[in-house]
Amino acid sequence: MLAIVGGSGLTSFAELEVARREVVRTPYGEPSGPLTFGQLQGHPVVFLPRHGHGHTIPPHDINYRANVWALKEAGVLGVVAIVSVGGIRADIDPGAIVLIDQVIDYTWGRVSTYFDGPDRPVTHIDFTVPFDRLLRLRLKNAAASVGEPIIDGACYACTQGPRLETAAEIDRLERDGAAVVGMTVMPEACLARELDLPYAGLAVVVNHAAGRGDSQLAISTSEIARTLENTMQRVRSIVMASVVPEKGVLP
Ligand code: HPA
Repeated sequence: MLAIVGGSGLTSFAELEVARREVVRTPYGEPSGPLTFGQLQGHPVVFLPRHGHGHTIPPHDINYRANVWALKEAGVLGVVAIVSVGGIRADIDPGAIVLIDQVIDYTWGRVSTYFDGPDRPVTHIDFTVPFDRLLRLRLKNAAASVGEPIIDGACYACTQGPRLETAAEIDRLERDGAAVVGMTVMPEACLARELDLPYAGLAVVVNHAAGRGDSQLAISTSEIARTLENTMQRVRSIVMASVVPEKGVLP
């Protein structure tokens, strides 16, 4: 069973045949909302909108530890994270769908580990390759199977938000090697790694990053909403294809 964590523009999944909703409590508090268990194309999935069902929880206030813990407890084999981003790299325009392959964490003040507290031994997880190879492959194959072009490989800069960046900050992120910018992959991705949960991120490009393209002078939030609306159906079709198990690519 895969988990789908929906971001902005994906607070519900119309195609999901809902079996039950479960309010889960974790040692770290409550997740962003009840877990929705159901079937997509006849395959079991769990859906969780990370900003809450009413899209009310901003990126810095999300209880990432509770969300990832709840999914692990539900017994999922992997997490497909849907995120929205601004495009920094010249070839990444609004409307593109990007399979991210690296991350740089610029967030601060977010609780980003399960390995804390006085009686826990110091633990350092390996995070060289932050996204799961097989789950990425599964998403790539799913996109190909439904004829949706995706950009395979981009470094995601995770900023604190909730404000968008300045043009100078985007220049700096680009110098650092980032190709897209968003606010939610961290600490979600490293918490999943701490729990040995395969994790991959599919990013929807909803705007040119600050100072780039048509965001030269300002980022239009109405444009973001329009692009999200127009692109999410394509993302849903990729996700639906990805839940069908493939031989050799995760159980
Ligand atoms: N910056 C940060 N997060 C985002 C952006 C952006 O330009 N677009 C969508 N999420």
